[in-house]
Amino acid sequence: MVPRFDGIHTGSKLIVNNRGKQLGRRGLIVSGASGTGKSTSITQLGKRFQIEFERRHPGIPDRIPVVYIVTPPDANPKALAMELARFLGLPISSADNSQSLSHTVAAVMRRAGTGLVLVDEIHRLDLTTRKGKDASDQLKYFFDTISATFVYAGLDLDESSLFSGVRGRQIAGRFIPINTRSFAHNTVEAKRDWIKLVATMEHSLRLHKHVPGALVELAPYLHARTGGMIGSLDQLIYEAANDAIADGTEKISKPHLEAVILDIAANNQYEPPGRRSRR
Ligand SMILES: Nc1ncnc2c1ncn2[C@@H]1O[C@H](COP(=O)(O)OP(=O)(O)OP(=O)(O)O)[C@@H](O)[C@H]1O
Ligand SMILES: [Mg+2]
Repeated sequence: MVPRFDGIHTGSKLIVNNRGKQLGRRGLIVSGASGTGKSTSITQLGKRFQIEFERRHPGIPDRIPVVYIVTPPDANPKALAMELARFLGLPISSADNSQSLSHTVAAVMRRAGTGLVLVDEIHRLDLTTRKGKDASDQLKYFFDTISATFVYAGLDLDESSLFSGVRGRQIAGRFIPINTRSFAHNTVEAKRDWIKLVATMEHSLRLHKHVPGALVELAPYLHARTGGMIGSLDQLIYEAANDAIADGTEKISKPHLEAVILDIAANNQYEPPGRRSRR
């Protein structure tokens, strides 16, 4: 796993600064295009926090240091509380009253010593609707009543309604923004970073005949194919490796990579050399 963005670093620093604070805590908002590694980086932050927590407080049972939820589509306050309750393993029924459910969830998180709350797909909160505003208020209630660091992640949040209106301004005033982007390939440094990523993924391959460095040599081609999207690169190498296993060659060659059909975004930006020269 390649350490990506300053998200993990900023997140870790934030957690330390927030420790023991009920008031004045700050959160982190990770925003970017699909496949740029938002979910991966926040779950990595969660893993680190959990490991660190267990190292600092060994042997304490019934602790839930990290909570991770995905914002449900068309979220309302109760749906958010139910997601948290499910993660915590609480017995819930749809007949439960929304307010008592959120009180129970907050109480359990306090008792379980939850110190990090990760909320993914936050762009699903539509702050232009009543339901979305109520759901945002619900999150703010948890923010205020659980002394944890809150981390939100979502698609291109600058373009969403998350920062609009009074609630949006409140979020903007409390959260530090981090943007995830595709890898560039226009400077020596950017190329070096891209090669590092390719090398890490290549290193994790378990193909009997793969010659180390073969993928690194194809780094410019891999960038052209994927547009520098970490998710597309992951997919490309994963599928090519599977094909190399299926056809018995046990090493990734350019035809394996050429044969992989990538996502629409990667396909749209890719210009094979032949097509480029015809323009
Ligand atoms: N640092 C990394 N090192 C290696 N692989 C990574 C890294 N970050 C992300 N990936 C891979 O890239 C893929 C996409 O990442 P991820 O799901 O985190 O993107 P996302 O920004 O959350 O996308 P979406 O908005 O569609 O949910 C995943 O398959 C993941 O394994
Ligand atoms: Mg994601």
